[in-house]
Amino acid sequence: MTLRVKVAVFISGRGSNMAALIDAARAKNYPAEIALVVSNKADAPGLEKARAAGVEVFALNSKDFADKDAFEAAIDRELRERDIEIICLAGYMRILGAAFVERWRGRILNIHPSLLPAYKGLRAHERALADGVDEHGCSVHLVTSELDDGPVLIQARVPVLPGDDAETLAVRVLVEEHRIYPEALARLARELLAIPT
Ligand code: GRF
Repeated sequence: MTLRVKVAVFISGRGSNMAALIDAARAKNYPAEIALVVSNKADAPGLEKARAAGVEVFALNSKDFADKDAFEAAIDRELRERDIEIICLAGYMRILGAAFVERWRGRILNIHPSLLPAYKGLRAHERALADGVDEHGCSVHLVTSELDDGPVLIQARVPVLPGDDAETLAVRVLVEEHRIYPEALARLARELLAIPT
């Protein structure tokens, strides 16, 4: 029997990276299982994709909780009940609180559409284009309490082509996101399982 680390993917939107992780985890020797998808939006389109793939979902609205700590404590409880060991943020549009991040230190990954440390935060593609860079990309990093900070595990580069706008560039970057996120998750999962890479 293959040993697999249980993973929760956090989303707020379309969930294409989530779908890439679910697909990758179907491979026989992949060291992680996507056991849960968490969303702060009950109508996130990604939730339907998760259900269709047979993955359990947990959606909750922060407005139903007194504050961020209570909201994140509810998520934390759910993750522990399900023996989750790694969290993958994939278009999760809320900044996690320091207490939650500390509790999961070294076990939360995020994907960001830029070559970090460049272009942290929103509208990374627009800002890269505005600067006239000729190369852009994406990064998977470990999450700390600073936004889009923390050690980078894997990056992928793409060229910026003449005539690119934010949409065309985003499409090119997204192809790479879907490739490197499963790779980075596998790497972290193997570390936790102490399997030599
Ligand atoms: C991706 O570009 C990711 O890098 C960023 O948010 C977007 C999410 O897209 N953090 P999707 O929901 O995975 O399709």
